[in-house]
Amino acid sequence: MNVPLSGSVGVCESCIIKRYCEKRFVPKYLATIGIDYGVTKVQVRDREIKVNIFDMAGHPFFYEVRNEFYKDTQGVILVYDVGQKDSFDALDAWLAEMKQELGPHGNMENVVFVVCANKIDCTKHRSVDESEGRLWAESRGFLYFETSAQTGEGINEMFQTFYSAIIDLCDNGGKRPPSSVGVGFTKEQADAIRRIRNSKDSWDILGVKPGATRDEVNKAYRKLAVLLHPDKCVAPGSEDAFKAVVNARTTLLKNIK
Ligand code: GTP
Ligand code: MG
Repeated sequence: MNVPLSGSVGVCESCIIKRYCEKRFVPKYLATIGIDYGVTKVQVRDREIKVNIFDMAGHPFFYEVRNEFYKDTQGVILVYDVGQKDSFDALDAWLAEMKQELGPHGNMENVVFVVCANKIDCTKHRSVDESEGRLWAESRGFLYFETSAQTGEGINEMFQTFYSAIIDLCDNGGKRPPSSVGVGFTKEQADAIRRIRNSKDSWDILGVKPGATRDEVNKAYRKLAVLLHPDKCVAPGSEDAFKAVVNARTTLLKNIK
């Protein structure tokens, strides 16, 4: 089993490995140069498995070293720091880099991805909340875990679930079994939530032009309310998005004759 671990510089991949493999935490930051490599044996359900972990340097400079390791990979751990929005935004670029190396879309289906929202012990500085991270991960069919390499929270659980998913994938002839990523929400719902999160005003939230009529506002409202109603939508962040939609409609209707 080959598992690369990637993330921006300083988001803690190395600490996650140390915490997991050696059960200790290293408070000092030592940038990974190129690739670190670790081998460990793990017991997953009734099997003993040898795992090769490749710890990728986050710095873009090491791309040439990293890209060799993406081939022949069964699982990828993407790490970001919940106190550093940039590291979360960078996940798209990491994914794009891997997509390019793993080849056409089909090959991404043969890989289990887990997203690790790390440093959850630093609650004061948190800038990416759980629903945002979870939505990003689960809307892509990826696993999502909240972890802290410092306290150890979530680390073992993350690795165990990750390995289990990889074994399911291998047992299923190399394809992700649909049940293991049973997301329970649609891309349309995920896209609407993301769009609403990034909206700057009430018009934007409802997706209507400033100056729209009552009818247009109500029509847009009804469509989103049905899509995001908490009874129907289980996507992370749907409750907040639904509330934002209700509030946007109320605000706009107050000012439209
Ligand atoms: P590159 O190798 O440059 O890509 O960095 P990296 O992503 O491997 O980061 P590393 O694991 O070396 O951790 C960076 C810094 O964050 C270190 O100073 C760690 O002590 C600190 N750190 C890592 N995990 C945690 C955590 O869960 N909580 C807190 N508070 N600090 C952490
Ligand atoms: Mg490192």
